[in-house]
This record gives sequence, structure tokens and C-alpha cells, in this order.
Amino acid sequence: MSNIFLIGFMGTGKSAIASYLARNYGMNIIEMDETIEQREGTTINSIFKTKGEEYFRDYETNLLKEICREDNYVVSCGGGTPMREENVKLMREHGTVVLLNATPETIYGRVCHSHNRPLLNDNMSVEHIAELLSVRRPKYQAAADIVIDTDNKTKKAISDEIIHRIAK
Ligand code: S3P
Repeated sequence: MSNIFLIGFMGTGKSAIASYLARNYGMNIIEMDETIEQREGTTINSIFKTKGEEYFRDYETNLLKEICREDNYVVSCGGGTPMREENVKLMREHGTVVLLNATPETIYGRVCHSHNRPLLNDNMSVEHIAELLSVRRPKYQAAADIVIDTDNKTKKAISDEIIHRIAK
């Protein structure tokens, strides 16, 4: 199977759906944030604080280049990965880009207890999420081959929909 890149805002379920797809459809999985944390030996929060966002963004691009040499991977991207045109080009050339959508309220419910999301840590609110989301939405939409609404759907329903739409 060719690669699947799951993109979308923080808290849209990229990691959970990637795990489900890997388990049930025999794909290998890469969680980009987790991989970067493991390799750097520290949290995303601390990478942003000590080395800066640009360092993290370059790390993401380099990791993506590495992943794009492989096949049969489901990749849980960071929420900001599709903000770089170079990343979008890489993903579209090496697999199917699947956008997971959710409302700001659903997202808030999923991320409100997290302290490891530097872009939300200082302002964890539905309003701030909605604002960031409206800036990002055009880029997410433009990057996606397939768009899936995830609100009130189970992991199984979302994953089956992804596989069904890729097979079309
Ligand atoms: C980010 C999303 C995070 C992580 C970092 C930046 C973003 O990933 O990469 O905090 O810019 O939206 P998740 O979407 O997995 O939370």
C-alpha cells in the first residue's frame, strides 16, 4: 500500500486513527511528534523553548524526507506540518494526504488537559483554537487529497472511510 499522511489541527485524532489503521490494515506507523521527541530525548515543549520553532519545523521537513523513501506507512503528522509548501509537495508525491476535520469545540475537549502543545499552552480556549484554525484551514484544504469530518464518528468508522475513499 502507498503511504497515508494524516494531517489536521491538533486534537483531530491523527495519532489515534494512525494507530487504528496500522493495527487493522497491516501498515507501519510513524507518529512524527513522538519520533522527534524520542530522537531529541525531550518534549516538543522543551524543543520549542530551547531551540525555537524554526528548528522544530526543519526537523519535521527532514523527517518527512526520510519517511518518503518508504512505502506502506501511515504517518501521523504534526498539526503544523502542512503549513510548509515543501512538506505538502513531498506528501502528495509519496502518498495520499488525508485531512481530519473537527470543530473547535471537539478539539478543545480533546486537548484541554495537554501541556505539551506550545501553540496552545498560553491560551487554551475554544476561541483561540477557532482563530488559529481559521488561519490554517485554507492550507489544510489545499494540501488534502481526501477530507474527512471526524465529529461524532468512531475510530473504526473514520478509518474505514479513509480506506474506502483511497480505494475508489
Ligand atoms: C503543532 C502541532 C503539534 C506539534 C507542535 C506544533 C502545530 O502536533 O507538532 O506542537 O503547529 O499545530 P499535534 O497536531 O500532533 O498536536
